[in-house]
Amino acid sequence: MSMAAPRGKVVAIDGPAAAGKGTLARRLAAALGLPYLDTGLLYRATGRRVLDGGGDPADPCAAEAAARALQPADLERGDLRGPIADQAAAAVAAIPAVRAALLDFQRQFAAARGAVLDGRDIGTVIFPAAEAKLFVTASLAERARRRHAELAGRGMAADLAAVTADMAARDAADAARAAAPLRPAADAVLLDTTALDAEAAFAAALAAVRARLGAA
Ligand code: C5P
Repeated sequence: MSMAAPRGKVVAIDGPAAAGKGTLARRLAAALGLPYLDTGLLYRATGRRVLDGGGDPADPCAAEAAARALQPADLERGDLRGPIADQAAAAVAAIPAVRAALLDFQRQFAAARGAVLDGRDIGTVIFPAAEAKLFVTASLAERARRRHAELAGRGMAADLAAVTADMAARDAADAARAAAPLRPAADAVLLDTTALDAEAAFAAALAAVRARLGAA
């Protein structure tokens, strides 16, 4: 008899900022009874740690040290959203040593029971053998509109043009970086949520993931 614990299924949800991945991933995890990890928080918390120490998130030494020192409580911080955290996250995320330092955390998270994870490279780098992979997109204009509304809902006033420009710059940096660039895995199901409301997007995502898990 094998002593290896049965490992649960891994569902990888990737895509650009504000495409709706987080909401979908959280709901999918609940529907499938799997743990959920928002991997963007790892990069956000790493960037915040560097800023706390007065460092530059683009400095590889400072950023790697921050990633290695990351504690679970860092992911609970209240200042991980907003433009400063966005930029710090994208800067540390371009550093290969940071990505390497955060890889084990992500793999360990799913080791016992499987998981739903959302990010940029879950299906391409972290879990290339994930049972189900979704690549969630929406037009830049729609993603900027959603992010603007989300910021307003949290009382953070922002200019739509500035949100759009920030998002375009972050998309470009995520897609152009040499280390784990944002791109769909060859075997990912593509889901464009531009014209879908939250319920329609969830129904489409759940159907796609169930079809993959059923076939896995
Ligand atoms: O998903 P979220 O917008 O919170 O991610 C913040 C930043 O972290 C992204 O712009 C990206 O640079 C980086 N990231 C990444 N790989 C992941 C998750 C996030 O490079 N798996």
